[in-house]
Amino acid sequence: MSQAPPPLGTPAARREGRDKVTGTARYAAEHTPPGCLYGWPVPATIARGRVSAVHTDEALALPGVHAVLSHDNAPRLKQPDDPILAVLQDDRVPHRGWYIALVVADTLDHARAGAEALRIAYETTEHDVVLSENHPGLYTPETVNGEYPAVRERGDADRAFAMAPVQVDATYAIGALHNHPMEPHASTAQWTQDGHLHVHDSNQGSTTVRESLAAAFGLRPQQVTVVSEHVGGGFGCKGTTRPQAVLAAMAARHTGRPVKIALPRRQLAAVVGHRPPTVQRLRLGAELDGTLTSVSHEVITQTSTVKEFVEQAAVPARIMYGSAHSRTTHRVTALDVPSPSWMRAPGEAPGMYALESAMDELAAALGIDPVELRLRNDAADEPDSGRPFSSRGLAACLEEGAARFGWYDRDPRPAVREEGPLLVGTGVASATYPVYIAGSSASAHAATDGSYRIQVNATDIGTGARTVLAQIAASVLNTPVENIRIDIGSSELPDAPLAGGSSGTASWGWSVHKASTALLRQLRECTGPLPAEGLTIFADTEQETSEKSPYARHAFGAQFAEVAVDSRTGEVRVRRMLGVFAAGHILNPRTARSQFIGGMTMGIGMALTEGSTMDPVFGDFTESDLASYHVPVCADVPEIEVHWIDEDDPHLNPMGSKGIGEIGIVGAAAAVGNAVRHATGVRLRSLPLTPDTLL
Ligand code: MOS
Repeated sequence: MSQAPPPLGTPAARREGRDKVTGTARYAAEHTPPGCLYGWPVPATIARGRVSAVHTDEALALPGVHAVLSHDNAPRLKQPDDPILAVLQDDRVPHRGWYIALVVADTLDHARAGAEALRIAYETTEHDVVLSENHPGLYTPETVNGEYPAVRERGDADRAFAMAPVQVDATYAIGALHNHPMEPHASTAQWTQDGHLHVHDSNQGSTTVRESLAAAFGLRPQQVTVVSEHVGGGFGCKGTTRPQAVLAAMAARHTGRPVKIALPRRQLAAVVGHRPPTVQRLRLGAELDGTLTSVSHEVITQTSTVKEFVEQAAVPARIMYGSAHSRTTHRVTALDVPSPSWMRAPGEAPGMYALESAMDELAAALGIDPVELRLRNDAADEPDSGRPFSSRGLAACLEEGAARFGWYDRDPRPAVREEGPLLVGTGVASATYPVYIAGSSASAHAATDGSYRIQVNATDIGTGARTVLAQIAASVLNTPVENIRIDIGSSELPDAPLAGGSSGTASWGWSVHKASTALLRQLRECTGPLPAEGLTIFADTEQETSEKSPYARHAFGAQFAEVAVDSRTGEVRVRRMLGVFAAGHILNPRTARSQFIGGMTMGIGMALTEGSTMDPVFGDFTESDLASYHVPVCADVPEIEVHWIDEDDPHLNPMGSKGIGEIGIVGAAAAVGNAVRHATGVRLRSLPLTPDTLL
C-alpha cells in the first residue's frame, strides 16, 4: 500500500490546543466592540397562531433598555435564503419558541429583564405537534435531505419478502435528538459608516453565513464580513445561518450600535434545528443461508410548517447489502413544531440504528453469527446504482474488529452471562457514511524567509482543521509543518465550503493541495531571489469537484459494544466499545482518533441517555437544557478503542481521504442495543434504552 507523503499521516498536535486550554482562544461571544449592546431574544409561548400585540412600555421604561424589536418595527429583510431566518417580519407564530421579539439593552441582565417585562398578546389556533404512523398529513416528498429521491424500488420487495423462508418485520422508533454543542450559537454584529456589516459568529462555515446575511439584508457578499475564528462544536446545527446572526445585525442597524446575542441554551431546541423523530419499518427476507432476498426500509418522519426537511433515514439501506429486491421510502408530515435540520450523520445515524438492529434480529432468527451474516451479504457493487465502489472496507472492518474485540469466542445465546445481578452481552453493527466534497478556494504564499502561509476560509469546529490543512500544505511543499502558517475562520479569506457532511478536510484540503502544488512549481521555475513581497498563488477546485465520479464512494466501519445490564434496576452500562473504520488515508491519526471517539460517544448518548419528548399540550420539547437532556458524561463513557484500515483509494482527492467526522456515530446505538439484547434476551425497538423500558 502506498503511503501518503509525510507529514501527512503523522499525529501532529492541534495548533490551537494551547490557546484553547489556556483560555486565550476567543469565541464569537467574546468579542466586545466599544459601545456594544446586548440582545435577548423572546420566544413565542404559544404553539400556533398570531402575535396580536407587543406591549413595550414597561420594558422600555426599565434601566438600560435601548430598544424592543418586533414585527411592528424591525428592519424588513430582503430575501432570506432560508425561511427560518425571516424573523420579526410578520405576526405569524409557526411553533412554540419561534422568535417574536428582541430586547436590546446595555447589559445582558437588563436585556433579560426587559424581555421578562414585555407583554405579548396572542391569537391562538389549534396546534398539531405529534407524529404518528397514521397521521393524515403524511405525504411522500420529491426528495429527502441530501437531494436523494424519497423513494427507490428494485424488483418486487413485497413478493420476495412473502416468499422468503426467514423474515424479520420490525418497527423502530427514535424520538427527537438535539445537537447541543458546548458553545451555544452567538453573534456580535456591527455596521460601519460605509454600510459594511461585520459579524463575529459561531458557525460551521462563514462563507455560507456571509452569503445568507448578504441575501437577507440586500447586500453584496463583499459588504459582509463574518469571522468565526474558534467554534465550540456544531454537529450540524451551525451548518446553516441561524436567527441570532440576523437578529444581531437587525438590532445593530436599528440602534446604530454593535449588538451581541448569545442564545440561551434553553432556547436552542426551538431555533437551531434538531434530528426529527423517525418511525422506521424494516422488512428483511432471507434464504436459510442468510442471503438477503428482500430489503424494505420505510421511514416516517416530521418537518415543520416553516420548511421541508426530511431525514433521509432509508438512504443507507440503498448501499449497505446486496439484495435483488428492495424498497426504500420516506413519508413526512408538516407539524407545528420547530424546523428539523442536520444533526451528526443525518440519515445514517437513525437509519443505521434501524437497519443494523433488524440485521441482528435476522441473525438471531437464522441462527447465524451477526458478523458472518453481514459478510455473506457484502456487496460487490453499490446495490442501488450498480456503480462499482471506489473502495469498500466493510468486510475488512468487521473481520479486524471481530478479531480485536474477541468476538469469535462469543456464545450466541442471550441472557446466559450472569455476574451477580448483572447480565453481560456483546453486539455488533456496521457503519457507513458517504463521501461528499465541494469546491473550495485557497491561496498559498511563499515568503522570502523560506516560510509559507496558507489562507482558506475553513472552519475549525473542534476537529483540528488548522492542523491537518497545514500538514497537507507541508507534504506538498516538502517542508516541516512548523514552517506553514495557516489562516482560517474569516470570510475575508478565500471562499470555502462548510465544515459539514464530513467534507471539510477533503474540500478545503484539495484547494490547499492545488495552490501549494502550483506554488511549488513556480518556485522551482524561479531562478533569482523572490521579490520582497514573496509569491502568492490562488487556486480553486470548482471544476475538479463538480465532476461526478463513476464510482460509489463511501466510508465504512464496524462497531462492537459490550454492555452490562443491572437486572434489578434496568441500568445499562457500556463496558467497552471498539470501532474499526475504513475511510481512505487517515491524515492525522491523533485528531482523527478524537473524532471517531467523539462520534461513538454521541452514539452512546443516542443509545442510552439522549431523548426528547414533545409535550402535546404545550407543543414544546420538554427537555430543553442539559439537566434534562442527558448527553453522556465521563462516567458513561468507558474506554473506547478505535482502529482503522488504511485504504489506498485513488478515486477521492489528492490526499486519498474520506470524511471521518460523522461515521463514528453511525451504528454505535445499534451495537449497544444489540448487546443489550444479547445480555438480556430483551429486544427493545425504541431509543433511548432507559431503565424503565428494560424492566
Ligand atoms: Mo454535519 S450534521 O453534516 O454538520
